[in-house]
Amino acid sequence: MTESSFSRVGVVGLGTMGAGIAEVLARGGLAVVGVEVNQDALDRGRGHLEVSTGRAVKRGRLTEEAQREILGRTVLSVDFAELGDCDLVIEAVPERLDLKRRVFAELDRVCREDAVLATNTSSLSVTDIAVSTRRPTKIVGVHFFNPAPVMKLVEVIRTVLTEPDAVARVAGLVRALGKTPVTVGDRAGFVANRLLFGYLNQAVAMLESGHATRDDIDAAMTAGAGLPMGPFTLMDLIGLDTCQGVLDAVHAETRERRHAASPLLRELVTAGLLGRKTGRGFYPHDGSATGEPA
Ligand code: 3HC
Repeated sequence: MTESSFSRVGVVGLGTMGAGIAEVLARGGLAVVGVEVNQDALDRGRGHLEVSTGRAVKRGRLTEEAQREILGRTVLSVDFAELGDCDLVIEAVPERLDLKRRVFAELDRVCREDAVLATNTSSLSVTDIAVSTRRPTKIVGVHFFNPAPVMKLVEVIRTVLTEPDAVARVAGLVRALGKTPVTVGDRAGFVANRLLFGYLNQAVAMLESGHATRDDIDAAMTAGAGLPMGPFTLMDLIGLDTCQGVLDAVHAETRERRHAASPLLRELVTAGLLGRKTGRGFYPHDGSATGEPA
């Protein structure tokens, strides 16, 4: 069982990231409440959890009994009121400030006064979200990486308003889950994305200028630089809309050219080719022929 000062943790939004976070929490022995906006989204979230834990069973990393316990510890609901008893709630809804503010207003209403509320945002300002609530001292960022059940890093973001105790408790939870917390200030891209996305954007610029092909750039970075995935494979995993969102946020803050999203990335996003989640991005993921995107 996880030694954490939180015992019941809510997750709002059960897409790829939210479902992954819910799985990590339930695997850590915590009681989890997962909330989605409607039954379809909730069923998809349940599917994510079942497939991901099922994969761990197939690989011999989890017994069937442990899988049943994990799923049994996870209550799924379309009713925000279920979050009323949670001592921490992590929001993982799509990256739109208006949407996140609405979710936080609702959390502010239903959650206990002493509950800590966290956002998994990768590109929005945690401070912007915090000031829209009545408890800005209890708002933190908790930024997991994709795939959440595998990646060890979690950035814990403090704003100038966050009370140190909330940051320390969230960092303690991350450690108790077997992951590595780093505490960072509220600046666009935090640490990892700020460094990573200049490189990813540069890869798109290289492809667009005809400097090298998609496959050769990916091969160079896996076989040559020892990374687990080349930049195009990784962007397709992250989602090209998310990539554009992170770049836009970092560029708005830094005005550095390397963060100005490449036209090809924008074109793919406009065309709805967002990577694995839509079946095509820089690569096809639906079994069709593997052409270069440009
Ligand atoms: N969900 C759950 N578990 C998964 C998974 C998923 N989506 N994908 C892979 N795994 C697990 C596998 O079950 C396996 O577990 P095991 O070792 O216990 O058996 C392990 O991960 C390794 O998987 P595979 O052998 O199938 O595949 P790889 O060895 O190729 O690893 C990878 C897959 C872990 C995704 C690896 O390629 C990797 O680390 N890629 C880089 C990912 C990365 O950089 N992520 C950060 C992106 S930036 C971000 O998220 C920030 C955001 O704000 C944009």
